Amino acid sequence: MDFMLSEEHRMIREAARDFAKRECLPGVIDRDEHQRFAHEQVMKLGELGFMGMMTDPAYGGAGLDTVSYVLAMEEISKVDASVSVCMSVNNSLVNWGLEAHGTEEQKRRFLEPLSRGQKNGALYIGAFLLSEPEAGSDGTAQRTNAVDMGDHYILNGIKNWITNGSSASVYLVMAQTDPAKGSHGINAFIVEKDSPGITVGTKENKMGIRGSDTHSISFQDVCVPKSQRIGADGFGFSFAMQALAGGRIGIAAQALGIASGAYELSLAYARERKAFGRPISEHQAIQFKLVDMATRIEAARMLCLKSAWEKDQQLDYATSSSMAKVFASETAMWVTTEAVQIHGGYGYVKEYHVERLMRDAKITQIYEGTSEIQRLVIGRSILK
Ligand code: CAA
Repeated sequence: MDFMLSEEHRMIREAARDFAKRECLPGVIDRDEHQRFAHEQVMKLGELGFMGMMTDPAYGGAGLDTVSYVLAMEEISKVDASVSVCMSVNNSLVNWGLEAHGTEEQKRRFLEPLSRGQKNGALYIGAFLLSEPEAGSDGTAQRTNAVDMGDHYILNGIKNWITNGSSASVYLVMAQTDPAKGSHGINAFIVEKDSPGITVGTKENKMGIRGSDTHSISFQDVCVPKSQRIGADGFGFSFAMQALAGGRIGIAAQALGIASGAYELSLAYARERKAFGRPISEHQAIQFKLVDMATRIEAARMLCLKSAWEKDQQLDYATSSSMAKVFASETAMWVTTEAVQIHGGYGYVKEYHVERLMRDAKITQIYEGTSEIQRLVIGRSILK
């Protein structure tokens, strides 16, 4: 067992930390306030290789391991979780899905530019379309349907809560093709956003990650060539579950970053702020909060890194990614609430960042499977 990060890992963490401070911190409050997508920052993340971190360089990626991805996600999320969710969806749901299960033609056409985050100098990112108005936790309850017309499918339906909904160029869409077959009657399709029949709904006015681009997307008689189906007929639900098992490592790392960002701000504030004649960090009530924050964050970090390591070793990581996500997201919620408490009145205003981190933390307990769903996945694994 070796807990040391390699020189390369430390350099990647440094690069991400530097990027977050230099590119994401300026304007983060304004983007949150006005729900503005960080277009410029995401373009630059692509130039840095962070939009295709784990993709094979043969398909435009950086060819790094999942441990590197967790380190980078933590650093970006400390500063701007709206940017990091965009990065997470592109890397671990869209790119991973295409690399693991796409055909050579699909990889050349879609994965290459997605891994670079750009095509012909313009933003080029992906979105993952599983959730529907009545299919959230129950992923099998798909109403969006795709009818097989021989060489193409016709897609109809509506998807909800889609991260990168309006800024993505490529959608990975799960749809029902044979309701009688249950989860085996679902397929996954690569659909270009500018296909006729697609309507992007208005942007959701959210509590947190307000800079991220969340929309509903509707499909009306959208024609999708059969060559854009992913995998064999009926593979779509298994595809989505596999992608989400890895996606949960990304969201766990996002939650970890939100927590450690709030902790670092609290530590600095507690050292400077004086009450009753001394820095509040010297009062045991505050010190114990900082200690518990640091301890829980370290435990969350270990779970994230272990799950990433298991993925890199090609071990089964579906249980550990759920453990990492449920623990890190609950840690993020707890730590950010304490961070606001330590900051007192200052914590309740935007300039001090912790109120935003507290709002951002909440979604990590909900998307890519709620805490309840993670417990269900873990429960099935330990009781089987
Ligand atoms: N890998 C491969 N296959 C898997 C799998 C995995 N990790 N998990 C399940 N499957 C397979 C099962 O083996 C089963 O196949 P067989 O019938 O051949 O055995 C099939 O999928 C159905 O599985 P279950 O019987 O377990 O299905 P279920 O309905 O009982 O439960 C669930 C599944 C775990 C609850 C699942 O629906 C789930 O994870 N729900 C949460 C959905 C979710 O995470 N949504 C997030 C939306 S995406 C998002 O948020 C992205 C974003 O924009 C940020």
